[in-house]
Amino acid sequence: MGKIILTGDRPTGKLHVGHYVGSLKRRVLLQNSGDFDQTYIMIADAQALTDNIENPEKVRQNIIEVALDYLSCGLDPTKSTLFIQSQIPELCELTFYYMDLVTVARLQRNPTVKAEIQLRNFEASIPVGFFTYPISQAADITAFKATTVPVGEDQLPMIEQTREIVRKFNQVYAPVLVEPDAMLPQTEASRRLPGTDGKAKMSKSLGNCIYLSDTADDVRSKIMTMFTDPTHLQVSDPGHLEGNTVFTYLDAFCTDEHFERYLPDYANLDELKAHYTRGGLGDVKVKKFLNNVLQEELEPIRQKRAEYEKDIPAVYEILKKGSEVARETAAKTLDEVKSAMKINYFDDLELIKSQSEKYGK
Ligand code: TRP
Repeated sequence: MGKIILTGDRPTGKLHVGHYVGSLKRRVLLQNSGDFDQTYIMIADAQALTDNIENPEKVRQNIIEVALDYLSCGLDPTKSTLFIQSQIPELCELTFYYMDLVTVARLQRNPTVKAEIQLRNFEASIPVGFFTYPISQAADITAFKATTVPVGEDQLPMIEQTREIVRKFNQVYAPVLVEPDAMLPQTEASRRLPGTDGKAKMSKSLGNCIYLSDTADDVRSKIMTMFTDPTHLQVSDPGHLEGNTVFTYLDAFCTDEHFERYLPDYANLDELKAHYTRGGLGDVKVKKFLNNVLQEELEPIRQKRAEYEKDIPAVYEILKKGSEVARETAAKTLDEVKSAMKINYFDDLELIKSQSEKYGK
């Protein structure tokens, strides 16, 4: 059986460099690796609505932003199927049947759901759709018989819950569904890129994100004001790397070749870190280097984005075509699911025959 990728993002904002280094960059590599038979990339608008009931316009507006970010990073509609979750009604049908296989207690124990309920102060009034979104996510994954789901660490409980649903379904009905594996980002730094202010998470409301669609000037000024080491007051002071955002970003983005090009006094990041820790290396120099590194990575993305921005209808057309393809696949799986559940009455000639025999005919 083939190897199939499915992953996606909620369209609640533009994608930032944390998304890029934690996931998008890898997706493009996987897409181009030839190791996978299919790659499905989903804009999870229906899931985004589960906690944005009062804000549907935000979700609607951000679909195109996420699509532009995908395309500009190198996701290629001739190689990957880019689609919109809500356009695949089969996913709702699957979700409805999977709901019978999951208990309320099990959902309550899902660590991601738990954390998000707290984060949103939902305790007393959790929307049912939000509470059950792990089941809908299991439908997203299994509809495409995905073997591999590239996600961040926070999504591991979702994959685990999906695997349980698959096992349960296959045991109760018939072995139709495929148990997926999560694929996590490769390095510590790419797993959790902090905000430019040093806070653990990049978030739009904190204004501490570097977006893929930021201009070169924006990126530069965000880097120049980045959080470093508050005890590193004079160039001669010894600096600390722990919690130093500039170095965390360098961990995530820079290679030895970047040193050759932009900072040839050092062979690699270890040497730069050693000098910083020893004292005698100023923040500005490190920040200028990070700026060179990031601009080199982001410039081709910006250029590609500008091209796609010239023809927005074409981008919607890509999503439409992708949604049609995705829908065909999901419909096939749904057929198999309904056959396994024996709710395919009109195709079940055996059933019709046996019922008519029961009535003596
Ligand atoms: N829950 C994911 C997120 O918040 C988005 C998502 C929805 C997803 N369905 C998925 C990711 C299926 C991977 C597979 O980012």
